[in-house]
Amino acid sequence: MADRSPAPDTPELRERWGAFEFTESYRERADAAIARYPEGRQRSAVMPLLDLAQRQVGEETDTQGWLPLPVIEYVADYLDMPVIRVLEVASFYFMYNLKPVGKYHVQVCGTTPCMLRGSDGLFETCKKRGMKKGHVTEDGLWTLTEVECMGNCATAPMVQINDDNYEDLSPERLDAILDELAAGKQPKTGTQIEGKRTSEPQGGPTTLKEMVDANHDYRKEW
Ligand code: FES
Repeated sequence: MADRSPAPDTPELRERWGAFEFTESYRERADAAIARYPEGRQRSAVMPLLDLAQRQVGEETDTQGWLPLPVIEYVADYLDMPVIRVLEVASFYFMYNLKPVGKYHVQVCGTTPCMLRGSDGLFETCKKRGMKKGHVTEDGLWTLTEVECMGNCATAPMVQINDDNYEDLSPERLDAILDELAAGKQPKTGTQIEGKRTSEPQGGPTTLKEMVDANHDYRKEW
């Protein structure tokens, strides 16, 4: 289980993030998220606002973004919420980073289906590049986190890197993806098996075969 405590509240942290506020474009998106909820229920927008704040921090630091305490306080103030309520949400969900992360946040699923399909080898691949769970590598490029099931068990093992999932991995396939990212390229997302589209069986679908090329309506046949 990764450490979910916030980064220490230091004078340096206050100095760097104490004046945080949404830029105009982030403010527009935050207000649009709030407007989805009925009057007086603006607190329901806490999750999208934390996500937006993390993304803005990411843009400002050229990383995947994180939530320093003053930023969490800013979101609480924006939504007129007690800070502890916002912190509870931020510390519960893994999508929020409570400590600085690298440009790429490599989240390797270590739950049973992924483990049985070789996630240990994926951790090894990461380790060979100097990644250590919960740390940013010296070049600022990578942070490794072990996560629980990400819902891609049918294409295990998988990793999520920033906003993308990479599935049907092997150590070599992950290595190639990390090489591409390090070179500033965007690797193919989803399954990494040549010829496979999504989570169909290897070798092609065995049922609902007409669905492969078109949205075939089976209802008439049932
Ligand atoms: S166990 Fe890894 S995605 Fe479900």
